[in-house]
Amino acid sequence: MRPIRKAVLPVAGLGTRVLPGAKTTPKELLNVVDRPILSYIVEEGRAAGIEHFVFITGRGKDAIPDYFDHQVELELQLRAKGKIEMLDAMLADLPKPGEMSFLRQMSPLGLGHAVWCAREVIGDEPFAVMLPDVIMDAERPVMAQLVDAYHKVGGNIIGVEAVPESETHKYGVIAPKPHSGGHALGKLVEMTGMVEKPPPGTAPSNLSIAGRYILQPEIFAVLGRHETGAGGEIQLTDAMARMLETQDFHALEYAGTTHDCGDKIGLLRANVALALKRPDLAAAARAALEPLLR
Ligand code: UTP
Repeated sequence: MRPIRKAVLPVAGLGTRVLPGAKTTPKELLNVVDRPILSYIVEEGRAAGIEHFVFITGRGKDAIPDYFDHQVELELQLRAKGKIEMLDAMLADLPKPGEMSFLRQMSPLGLGHAVWCAREVIGDEPFAVMLPDVIMDAERPVMAQLVDAYHKVGGNIIGVEAVPESETHKYGVIAPKPHSGGHALGKLVEMTGMVEKPPPGTAPSNLSIAGRYILQPEIFAVLGRHETGAGGEIQLTDAMARMLETQDFHALEYAGTTHDCGDKIGLLRANVALALKRPDLAAAARAALEPLLR
């Protein structure tokens, strides 16, 4: 079974749900507690054995490659002031030479189109997709849980989480195979279909596609047809649904908490939840927040 070495991180979206904050700062660089959302995503990818991160960027996103480069003056100043812990935290996010690629999407035509832009760099091997505005808080990093599942069953793996039925119209939703006879390895189920943003009352389940994927390279040929779907965008979900006709797909209901930081309340919740989990900040965060909630 071929290993999962590369991950695609699409960062070319407009981030309209967190404007005007995302006007000059890419939403993927908005801070959660004291570091950008992307810092959490790259950390999760490295913990899953990802060796190469392929960012799909666009206009106004140049701060992203800058974030992953040295800031020599700042580093010298921190060293001179003896702020070594802060310096180490900054350096921890930097790539090894050649560990990251940055490609232009040119127009934000949809998540499927963004992934297709990575075809030449990914080549003919299975790869991960990580949505870089979704922080996963989990004991075993969620991307690593998907890689574990991939080593059991191969094929294509989609991370899913249960959402209230009233919310399914906002997401991609999967159709699990009925439990008679199919693979049911813990929270890993075979899939028979998936649909992007189903109209209320029509979703095939309450399992939503949550932003972590392992895909076989044949997806690029399907994405290359440039067929548009929900919202007039080239949807990754539609391409995966097509590929399901010829390839195995499993959905993994991973263990962990999902924070959608591309959404105002999701971003707020991520800040609160992760500050309350930090040993150095929890007491002060609780003291600051409790009076506000009374
Ligand atoms: P989203 O739908 O959450 O991002 O796509 P968006 O379009 O930026 O956000 P809103 O809905 O306008 O607020 C998930 C990820 O896919 C990237 C986004 O940057 C985001 O990280 N994306 C989306 C692209 O790279 N290109 C696209 O054409 C669309």
